[in-house]
Amino acid sequence: MKNIFITGGAGYIGSHCVISLAKNNYNPIIIDNFSNSNESVIKKLEIITKKKIIYYNLDIKNKKKLKSIFKKHSCYAVIHCAGYKDVSESCEKSINYFDNNIGSTLSLLDCMRERNVFKIIFSSSANVYNHGQSLPLKETANVGKTKNPYGNSKYIIERILMDLSNFDKKWSVRIARYFNPISNHSSGIIRENSKGIPSNLLPYIISVAKKKLPELRIYGKNYKTKDGTGVRDYIHVMDLADGHVAMIKNNRMKKGLEVYNFGTGKGLSVLEMVKVFEKQIGISIPFKFVKKRKGDVPASYCSPKKALKELKWKNKFDINQAMKDIKKIL
Ligand code: WQD
Repeated sequence: MKNIFITGGAGYIGSHCVISLAKNNYNPIIIDNFSNSNESVIKKLEIITKKKIIYYNLDIKNKKKLKSIFKKHSCYAVIHCAGYKDVSESCEKSINYFDNNIGSTLSLLDCMRERNVFKIIFSSSANVYNHGQSLPLKETANVGKTKNPYGNSKYIIERILMDLSNFDKKWSVRIARYFNPISNHSSGIIRENSKGIPSNLLPYIISVAKKKLPELRIYGKNYKTKDGTGVRDYIHVMDLADGHVAMIKNNRMKKGLEVYNFGTGKGLSVLEMVKVFEKQIGISIPFKFVKKRKGDVPASYCSPKKALKELKWKNKFDINQAMKDIKKIL
């Protein structure tokens, strides 16, 4: 059974990747410092996967300890999810974001190279795309004019990986540009549980549904979109997790670098999300319109055609199924 290391494997995306890997007969090994996740998720993953999950509580900037893990376990490939990911927080703590996200990546790449492990999947983001381009966004769209340190850290890491792959042909690099991951595994045992007040739409709506927050504040109502509210491409996190397995399986992750969008290719507005949540879950969500949030784009959704053509991957779950799975955690 091939070992797949997942940095940030206790986090929202990483933990769902663990489920998808185990389902496909890979052996996931989690490396996480639990800065934005809970150690309790390990036990939950063992219940869902019905197998022992090997994990290490470790900051991957600690090269000495990271190397010892690479010495202890063979590694077929690494899924690199570890990183800070809050857009607004990144604007207040830009140095921490660059130090953590870029520093940990360089530490990881150095350890991989030393142990002759050259297959890596990087968790990137739709945030790297320049604003104002025609939609849907293809992988060839322009990138780099990102508006916040979080998006810039993702873009800079993509550039590092492109140089690595350009000048050292041993590397197999897959850059996964996530659109808006939502929902949770159908068991309802694990979920997105970042610490603090949620900044993303669906975790915020869930907090309102649970009466932890009084109402949803909708940022802007006069965008040039179908109903004036922001439009995004919401993808079920299990579909996204399966996309990682598809990249590992494809052509045995042949050498070179490929970029893939992971989204549904459909855009839904904030008001549409509120409506489908209320319909599927049966809880009404009070809201009020407030001013636009700095850095938001009116609309963003992808063309997922490349992943379909090359990886035979497309989303299996629609927004209704995503909401039904959310109902299980309420
Ligand atoms: C979605 C829509 C908001 C909250 C970010 C990152 C991206 C990825 C996903 C990490 C927008 C509106 C939101 C609220 C609202 N993160 N909204 N009220 O900004 O598209 O993407 O999260 O990888 O990289 O950029 O997601 O969920 O914050 O916002 O009206 O309380 O909901 O204006 O239109 P976003 P989001």
